[in-house]
Amino acid sequence: MATVACGIDIGGSGVKAACVGLSTGEFIGERIRIDTPKPATPDAVADVCRQLLEQLEVGPDVPVGIAFPAPIIRGVVPFIANLDPSWANIDVNELMQRHLGRPIAALNDADAAGIAEVTFGAAKGVPGTVILTTQGTGIGSAVIVDGVLVPNTELGHLEIDGHDAEKRASAGQKTLQDLSWKKWAKRLQRYYSHMEMLFSPDLFVVGGGVSKNHEKFMPLLDLKTPMVPAQLLNTAGIVGAAVWAANKA
Ligand code: BGC
Repeated sequence: MATVACGIDIGGSGVKAACVGLSTGEFIGERIRIDTPKPATPDAVADVCRQLLEQLEVGPDVPVGIAFPAPIIRGVVPFIANLDPSWANIDVNELMQRHLGRPIAALNDADAAGIAEVTFGAAKGVPGTVILTTQGTGIGSAVIVDGVLVPNTELGHLEIDGHDAEKRASAGQKTLQDLSWKKWAKRLQRYYSHMEMLFSPDLFVVGGGVSKNHEKFMPLLDLKTPMVPAQLLNTAGIVGAAVWAANKA
């Protein structure tokens, strides 16, 4: 099995990549980033992935994993909420093979973060059901049961009080609507208590940039389930994609 793999994380504002040491989860060399092209069409984004692999000089035998802000169902994006709509129905393996000239392993970005946290971070060794949510423009989710990922859960799109959950309770909406921590926490309370009722999880892990400020909102929540910040912060997508690729290679 490979000892190093490369992870690429496609986000709304940047596409980031690094090589990852698989025994530690640490980056080997630098993490590089290119702005997400506008419009972020499949061909434009795939070309950015090609540039990143070139800049990192990733050898042909190094497994490459790519995290997408969308579900990936048998290699195909069924819908995408926060990137160019032309991604719908795209076969990402075929697209990337065409642009990169090599196979890749594709997965959802929150699933990648979940794999990273269960392998190296806050969910490592936790028995039972862990729900990781990534808080950003949208809300991504990873459900992990006894260390095994249940992929493509899309819990950011749970309908709560007639609204798509991520349109009310994401960190992106906090910024957009200039919500105070207290007001945002009320929305989080509604969201996470609903998930608690549905799944009876053993642990919530909250990732995304806002988890740096976890002491501003976690103490305002009244939940039965323990909630902790993610440990890998902005590296989780890359690390999880790399681990996924190595396991698939
Ligand atoms: C998408 C998910 C993604 C999340 C975070 C949601 O809008 O539907 O697939 O994981 O945003 O990027």
